[in-house]
Amino acid sequence: MRIFSGIRPSGKLHLGNYLGAIKNWIELQNKPDIELAVFGVVDYHGITTPFDPKTYHQQVMDAVIDYLAAGVDPKKALLIRQSKVPQHMELAWIFSTITPVGWLDRLPTYKEKQNQVESSGNEKADSWKNNLGILSYPALMAADILIYKSNLVPIGDDQKAHLDLTNEIGKKFNYLFGETFEPVKAFKSEGERIKSLQDPTKKMSKTPSTSSGQAGDSYIALMDSPDIIRDKIKKATTDSGKEIKFDEKEKPGISNLLTIYSLLAGSIKGQILSIKEVEDKYGGKSYIEFKNDLAEVVVDFLKPFQERYKEFAGDMAQVDKILTESEERARQIAQETLSDVKQKMGL
Ligand code: TYM
Repeated sequence: MRIFSGIRPSGKLHLGNYLGAIKNWIELQNKPDIELAVFGVVDYHGITTPFDPKTYHQQVMDAVIDYLAAGVDPKKALLIRQSKVPQHMELAWIFSTITPVGWLDRLPTYKEKQNQVESSGNEKADSWKNNLGILSYPALMAADILIYKSNLVPIGDDQKAHLDLTNEIGKKFNYLFGETFEPVKAFKSEGERIKSLQDPTKKMSKTPSTSSGQAGDSYIALMDSPDIIRDKIKKATTDSGKEIKFDEKEKPGISNLLTIYSLLAGSIKGQILSIKEVEDKYGGKSYIEFKNDLAEVVVDFLKPFQERYKEFAGDMAQVDKILTESEERARQIAQETLSDVKQKMGL
């Protein structure tokens, strides 16, 4: 099995990123049948929406430190910045020549990204409006995955359509130029759909998806302080009624909080705590009691993460060494695929 996954460095990583993606990266990197695992900070994807060049480098490094603090182990996985492995971009250009625009402009994420440009608050946001990169974004994502001949991709639910497209692109390449890429599968996870705390019908996100939206209270960043976490959970939208019961349709707010509780409380004890067990524990108790306890579960879970974050941030020489070694190895592996692809195309 070969794995690739990545996260855009657009600010703070949040619990959705952790539960939908990183938690599974850590689980997978430890499995014996993993031949290669590569985790990337996809900084070329990050520049398709407005960003500040003065802080971008720091944002990328913050994401790298987040990965390490969460448990990405450089002995088992490669940790890279996408822009430092140029083969991703070369393959993306090749893929863009066999990807019809009609496969791209119908994706929900295309509209979502355009909204993000408008709601970014960046004073030069207009300059990013309708840029070609937002449209071709999934061709680069396909290249990220296929450049390592990956076949398993741990991602949240919102990225599944991009994975279908990756498979379409891979199949088309094989048809045109000869068998090269295997089908890719998403790694399924319980945390693949963590919802916004403010509007549990939408996904938890660091960027508001509507032009009038405010993201702040809707997500818990991995580096939020205990008081901020308590405050955000206290303010989280709950549902009418008072029963603590998992019912995504009728009780989306409580169901989301139950999912977070079950996944994090389980991780603290190193075991799985089912949603049913959490429901039983809080049978007859109030929303307030449940939320107070959930806040402590989140705080307890994030404490060791935040400590490790500070340790890595205080030793940038070690972080740089990890990146240099990983990126060198990643370029070698990626070049093997790229050479094969170019040779098959007569390039
Ligand atoms: P991004 O940066 O939006 O999100 C990174 C990862 O976090 C997951 N995620 C969530 N999971 C559950 N609940 C949520 N609320 C939630 N929000 C985010 C995402 O599904 C994703 O797994 N295009 C990608 C980045 C990318 C990539 C790749 C991923 C570029 N190349 C190759 C995998 C493989 C993106 O924008 O993810």
